[in-house]
Amino acid sequence: MNFEFAPMEGVTGYIYRRTHARFFPGVPRYYAPFIAPDGQGRFKLGSLRDVLPENNEGLSLVPQILCSSAAAFLSVAQELAALGYDEVNLNAGCPSATVVPKHKGAGMLSDPDELDAFLREVFSRAPVKISVKTRLGLESGEEFPRLMEVYRRYPLSRLIIHARPRSGFYKSEPELATFAGAFEEGAPFPISYNGDIFCPADLHRVSEAAPGLEEIMLGRGAAANPALFRVLTGGAALEKEELREFHAALVSGMKDAGISEHHILSRMKELWFYMLHMFPGSVREAKALNKARAMPDYLSAVSALFSSGYFDPNAVFIPPK
Ligand SMILES: Cc1cc2nc3c(=O)[nH]c(=O)nc-3n(C[C@H](O)[C@H](O)[C@H](O)COP(=O)(O)O)c2cc1C
Repeated sequence: MNFEFAPMEGVTGYIYRRTHARFFPGVPRYYAPFIAPDGQGRFKLGSLRDVLPENNEGLSLVPQILCSSAAAFLSVAQELAALGYDEVNLNAGCPSATVVPKHKGAGMLSDPDELDAFLREVFSRAPVKISVKTRLGLESGEEFPRLMEVYRRYPLSRLIIHARPRSGFYKSEPELATFAGAFEEGAPFPISYNGDIFCPADLHRVSEAAPGLEEIMLGRGAAANPALFRVLTGGAALEKEELREFHAALVSGMKDAGISEHHILSRMKELWFYMLHMFPGSVREAKALNKARAMPDYLSAVSALFSSGYFDPNAVFIPPK
């Protein structure tokens, strides 16, 4: 089984990825959170910084682009190629109400003919390999066979399938039968499964539904338990000390990068939304951590969590319903 780390905007930026690769080595591929260019292909400096090769040393990274204009996509792909990337990923899954009506992200799935035209243009001039991260459809998984028909026409380097329609956001039950149907039918490119793999039993369920599946992408489960890749390949459970050191390295990595304390706190709290699952029942400690407004308070709340909170190395992320 090959695992990849999903892109998570606001969570898996370059400092996170670099630190993760140092403490939990062996993940073959990381995806950068999306770059969202305007119609002219211009995008934010922060997105560029996130994919600069010098900020991603020692890990294999695939940058991702979110846009509905083939010209803008190609312009960003060209810039990424100039940075040395040989593959970019198309985001056809973002469910946000601010992107879908613009036919971006999962909005690309609303009209298979439009998606086909986009891919035709992009593949006719692509300077790099292109993979796609898709959902099963906009409203329902019943849309997926028609979308697969479109994808199969192109030499994608990989199709990552988040096994929910956009309407399910991050909450509906993944549609394993729909995924398995598409996987069984086959495609001229590797297919990767994504959605709700939080523990070995989840992986087992997906592997049983789709025999022969070899590629898995992990998102929230790995944000909660950064050792999940190791655990799913039969390795040791996460240790509290490891998590403590990982956390300290993240904070010092952000300080070294010149990020303000205010921003470090807000980014770390976003990450703790996931990692606090490793401390089940530690309500008081979690509350103090989320309440901290200044770095000293935050660090003492983290220290209290590690010393008096209950750490369960086998705890499993529970998605909010
Ligand atoms: C906070 C957050 C940010 C995300 N950002 C991105 C993104 O930038 N690009 C993308 O393709 N998917 C993004 N996703 C979706 C994840 O990559 C993944 O598809 C989804 O969480 C389902 O996988 P999981 O159940 O393993 O988490 C994001 C998800 C979350 C929760």
